[in-house]
Amino acid sequence: MSVSNNAVIHIEGLTKHYGSVHALTDLRLDVHRGEVFGYLGPNGAGKTTTIRTLLDLIRPTSGSAQIFGLDSHQDSVRIRERLGNLPGELSLWNHMTGWEVINYLGELRGGVDKHYVGELADRLDMDMSRKVKACSSGMKRKLGLIQALMHKPDLLILDEPTNGLDPLVQQTFYSLIREISSEGRTVFMSSHNLPEIEHVCDRVAILRGGRLAAVERMSDLKKVYFRWMTLRLDGDAAPQAFEALDGVSDVTAHNGTLRFRVTGELDPVIKLAAQYHVIDMTYEEPTLETIFLEFYGEN
Ligand SMILES: Nc1ncnc2c1ncn2[C@@H]1O[C@H](COP(=O)(O)OP(=O)(O)OP(=O)(O)O)[C@@H](O)[C@H]1O
Ligand SMILES: [Mg+2]
Repeated sequence: MSVSNNAVIHIEGLTKHYGSVHALTDLRLDVHRGEVFGYLGPNGAGKTTTIRTLLDLIRPTSGSAQIFGLDSHQDSVRIRERLGNLPGELSLWNHMTGWEVINYLGELRGGVDKHYVGELADRLDMDMSRKVKACSSGMKRKLGLIQALMHKPDLLILDEPTNGLDPLVQQTFYSLIREISSEGRTVFMSSHNLPEIEHVCDRVAILRGGRLAAVERMSDLKKVYFRWMTLRLDGDAAPQAFEALDGVSDVTAHNGTLRFRVTGELDPVIKLAAQYHVIDMTYEEPTLETIFLEFYGEN
């Protein structure tokens, strides 16, 4: 088994067809140690398919994946020792309590640190004495997170982890993720929650129709894109003058307030604005949501 690089996850030419459905096409991706990596894409983009392939729950049509430099299929048992996973849809044993589920899964792993589990349960505000069948969907999600985290894995693979969690618990989750990353452990998570991705991820991949549309550092993703500028002027300005500038578009004017998109250098905009009496100016980064929609909107 050759180790082709030192990425924690190394995906090479991964392709998955379900009959005529091309769920993944020639996916290539590296995730590095200590990263919190966000995996985004609309419904049906292939996120869960990627995750299930990494976990060796399904076999790819072609291509391969390595985790910790080990083959995801041949070495899946060794990989699992160092991996924590929260599936998108988790089914647990209804008749067991939270503690029983954790003890059972812990035994399969050769033991469990009950003190750490207790700490996680406290932080996530989870009642571990409740039977699974009496748990709300959010409680089951918390139990799923606890079982993913309980053995302090080197890599966490989470499919929409905060789906169904209330805002307070989501904040706790973000803190946990930041702690895990600061310990040099790696997190790969799919999500539809853009503020969450923006909040916790170092890098994001955007998947569309089974192909990678982009892989960017969170900070770069926001930088390469445009900003919105709003200028409040004393008196009316001609929107045409701004529109004529390089890199300025989508100009709207309303009661002396101009709003437009700026790409590239700001200098021409500032020099033109200086010809007016400027009362106020704001210059905003686009939200990840705007960036995301642009990615999806174009072909
Ligand atoms: N077992 C299966 N049999 C046939 N087609 C499947 C199967 N699983 C997934 N697909 C198809 O593969 C594509 C990718 O699905 P996948 O579940 O990976 O998407 P996803 O990005 O996780 O979407 P979501 O955001 O809705 O969870 C979809 O077109 C889906 O219908
Ligand atoms: Mg999915």
